[in-house]
Amino acid sequence: MEVEHNKIDRISIPHRSRGIGSWVGAVWGWLDARTGLALPLRKFFTYPVPLYVHKNVLYSLGGVSLISLALQLFSGILMTFYYDPGISSAYDSVDYITYTLPAGWLVRGVHVYNASALVILLFLHLLRTYFMGAYKKPREITWMAGVLMLLVVLGFAFTGALLPWDQSGYWATKVGMEIAGSTPLAGTWIKRILQGGSILGQATLTRFYVLHVLLLPLGILSLVILHIHQLRYHGIAPAITEKGKRDSKKFVPFFPHWMTLDAMIGTALLILLIFVSWNWRAPLEFPADPTSADFIPRPQWYFLSLYQMLKYFPGPLEPVAAILLPGALIGGLLALPFIDRSEERRPWRRPLATALAIAVISAIVVLTVLATL
Ligand code: HEM
Repeated sequence: MEVEHNKIDRISIPHRSRGIGSWVGAVWGWLDARTGLALPLRKFFTYPVPLYVHKNVLYSLGGVSLISLALQLFSGILMTFYYDPGISSAYDSVDYITYTLPAGWLVRGVHVYNASALVILLFLHLLRTYFMGAYKKPREITWMAGVLMLLVVLGFAFTGALLPWDQSGYWATKVGMEIAGSTPLAGTWIKRILQGGSILGQATLTRFYVLHVLLLPLGILSLVILHIHQLRYHGIAPAITEKGKRDSKKFVPFFPHWMTLDAMIGTALLILLIFVSWNWRAPLEFPADPTSADFIPRPQWYFLSLYQMLKYFPGPLEPVAAILLPGALIGGLLALPFIDRSEERRPWRRPLATALAIAVISAIVVLTVLATL
């Protein structure tokens, strides 16, 4: 028996003295022998990336969007432990998270402010891929999955606003429901489905909650997988500048080269979110009061351009601003790779596409500014 013990000591002591690395290696070896994960993971992280992508912040917008999305899902999951989706308890649960729960202000702050950051990042990422013609053949699916993700993110914003059941969320949703109701032919039907009946009440909150914490997350996760798969399958689009073309023949591994800049910007984003959350508590108005007709509804800033446009199309013309123009923009974005089939990617050689984008961006910015005056 004693001999056996000695044997164990002789084997285990030198093993332990090699430090934590050998333990990690041993556990990893054990896992790999059972799952075969090491090879695909190594392939993923050592994927060769052309040099023109490396250290170019424009190519980090997608990766940082992914980090921002992960932060959003993580902070959202934490909040579901305390959030209560009932019309008589939702407000109190959000108030508790914001003002009483230890670090609740931080989790909710990150969730609320990061929602805006994600919209901005996605918009910039869309512009980068648009101006560099990255939507063209064979990246149609990458692009369309991106457009759908942007829509899902706006869906998150719309459904999330109602969850605190405060005045601003309630009345913004009321306006949103009127807009949905003005859809030609199917308006009444869409409004009833979303609202869960003829009034904005418990059924609406339940539906928005299920959409916000279950269906939209499932949707966006599936789209992220499709987007990243397509990206890896086709590789990043060819460079458009002369310097980039010269760098196209040289490659660096995805990890740590490309990932480092993304991780650095992601960390800066997190620090900024903590700073903002610390200094300004995420807003919570008075509890929703369906009888207070004097409350002026104000949508989140990213819906302001739409809100402003509605003012120029009063009465029976409302569906033009509410449904037709945004619908044409989204439909146009989805169909873009099939409409613009030329192989030219340089924005200065695609004057029509470039001018069109500048006109749409200017219109969105001007309408948003006008709405804040
Ligand atoms: C949560 C949403 C999104 C995530 C996480 C995401 C992630 C990424 C990542 C990591 C890349 C590679 C790096 C880069 O090009 O920046 C990429 C590329 C790409 N993304 Fe996105 N993206 C999202 C939304 C969008 C949107 C809204 C669009 C446009 C409508 C879009 C279109 C594209 C295209 C076309 C590429 C290929 C770029 C190329 O080959 O040069 N993505 N995306």
